[in-house]
Amino acid sequence: MHNAEKIVVIGDLHYTERADSERAALWHPNGIPRLLAAAGRVARDSGATLALQIGDLVGGEESDGVAAHEALIAGAMDRLESALPGVSLAVVPGNHDTRGEGGPEAWAHNVPPANRAIPLGDDALILLDSNTPDETFAALPRLLLETADCRCLFIAVHHPVIPCYYGLSYRSLFLGEPERDAERLEALRLLAERHAIVLCGHVHTNGFIDWHGVGGRIVQVHVSSLWDGLEPALRETISTSDGYGRFYEREGRADAAAFFASFRNGLAAYQHFEGAGFALVKLCPDALSVDFFGGADSSRPLLTLPIDGNEDWRIVD
Ligand SMILES: [Fe+2]
Repeated sequence: MHNAEKIVVIGDLHYTERADSERAALWHPNGIPRLLAAAGRVARDSGATLALQIGDLVGGEESDGVAAHEALIAGAMDRLESALPGVSLAVVPGNHDTRGEGGPEAWAHNVPPANRAIPLGDDALILLDSNTPDETFAALPRLLLETADCRCLFIAVHHPVIPCYYGLSYRSLFLGEPERDAERLEALRLLAERHAIVLCGHVHTNGFIDWHGVGGRIVQVHVSSLWDGLEPALRETISTSDGYGRFYEREGRADAAAFFASFRNGLAAYQHFEGAGFALVKLCPDALSVDFFGGADSSRPLLTLPIDGNEDWRIVD
């Protein structure tokens, strides 16, 4: 008998304890702490038993040595655990988590390693380390084999696998460097074959992609929790599939425009919006929905993103 899976997804946090950090203001009492408290209420009210923090837990470049970095990790984990009592916490590493002197050692000593699978009833969640792309790519077939019998496969990875970033580093993806294109396409194929639901961060925006390509389908949800506390989050909005990547055409950046265009025809759904919040991913026996929460005091989703039409599962509101 399948149990409903509910995962609270917390985005990039860049936790800092340095008052002179440019991100220190995000951690004032009405900023990210309020958002985490709201995530805790949503977890409690929905019955979610798992929270996923999607990397860039800490602003590691601001620490100085292993002990300082460990204190930063401990501080961030304490904030999460206090806000989400009774909820299991899974974390994948982001590019800022292991920055700074002693960062890699502090992370390895204090956070369970990624590149492992967590069973979720009939489903499974694979945690990937996108900071070590060669090792992670090598581990992917084993992880997929371990989860071959699951009904629905979630992938947690800091860097997106489908491009969704409008900025300078348009290839800021898992295996995104041009010299890794063969591996990147193979990883896409492996995930699409499993109709994976990718939960990611890194891009400091929120959104949702349903992409059909390389013989399968990938649903990708990207989440940011860098709430600035100045106004209700998840402001501005919303892109359409046809608008996907047009930014680069307008900017006259041919390489980036072509890269995004190569994904555009496969988009069954695409939404991308500014601001910050958290998400509740709900997988029920016959349906999946993703609720985005933005206002830190909100107990109701600001936006629910549905998708239909899949032979294995379908996403509805
Ligand atoms: Fe980040």
